[in-house]
Amino acid sequence: MKNESLVEKGSLYLPGSYSTVSQNVDNLFYFTFLISIFIATLMFLVTVYFLFKYKKTKDNPKAKIQLTHNNVLEVTWTVIPLIIVMIIFYWGFIDYLKLVVSPDDALEIRVTGKKWYWEFYYPDSGAESTEDLYVPVGQPVKLVMSSVDVLHSFFIPNFRVKKDVQPNRYSNVWFEATKEGSFQIFCTEYCGDGHSSMLANLHVLSKSEYKDKMEELSMGDDLPLDLLGEKLYKKQGCFSCHSIDGSDLVGPTWLGLYGAERQFEDGSSVIADDNYLRESIVYPAKKIVKGYPNVMNSYAGLLDDRELNALIEYIKTLK
Ligand code: CUA
Repeated sequence: MKNESLVEKGSLYLPGSYSTVSQNVDNLFYFTFLISIFIATLMFLVTVYFLFKYKKTKDNPKAKIQLTHNNVLEVTWTVIPLIIVMIIFYWGFIDYLKLVVSPDDALEIRVTGKKWYWEFYYPDSGAESTEDLYVPVGQPVKLVMSSVDVLHSFFIPNFRVKKDVQPNRYSNVWFEATKEGSFQIFCTEYCGDGHSSMLANLHVLSKSEYKDKMEELSMGDDLPLDLLGEKLYKKQGCFSCHSIDGSDLVGPTWLGLYGAERQFEDGSSVIADDNYLRESIVYPAKKIVKGYPNVMNSYAGLLDDRELNALIEYIKTLK
């Protein structure tokens, strides 16, 4: 599921274009691309032509001509490229402004980049989601983005939207989706072990589906412990390093973890009980499971007792 790319194919080799600004970006790209092909082809043909025309043979009088200066030529090959470059600059600048200045009525969503997943917060409804971003179709959306650790970069290929996400500072992008469906979000800045799996899906919904989704996501935490644990597993990003299906990620899987014997880097071992699990969440560096890197952040102070219990209860259900 996570490895299946949702980037939809489009024209030539560009991905499909499904936002209001993506066609502008493509047009400028194709303009620059075609002009480059035209000039490169022209130069190649002229070079080949001259090769033969001025070839040094006994009976070719043209081979003796020595040109040193030609005003008309000099002005021509300076002015024409200048005009082309100015067109590209002006066009690019106008489209760049469209990309960076969001409309006043844009819906604001907060995006947080963390090693190694994306978190989304919807201020209008108080809803939160992890790994899945929901937006309504035909509505400008402004993403206010920040990172809690290192530099990440937020990229939606089908929307031609990409921006660095930095710690201690906000950056933003905006887009208006023109088509309902699911689209791939990538992290495009190398950010550590889990960079390549720092993926998320953008779901463009109809206005009414979006409203329902927001209601569903903003439901309270009044849940049984194991269900709360399942929610925290996503919300706290545990899933980005620990699988629940036995597959190997940055950290050990949670499947069959409870009650199993753990072997550590220092040669010791322990049975994974409640105390071991709690310690591993709060002080992950204390016992390093053999064969895994010591990269997990401490969750001390980030989870309260109920939440710690919930995660442990959830792990117990994974047999
Ligand atoms: Cu985050 Cu790469």
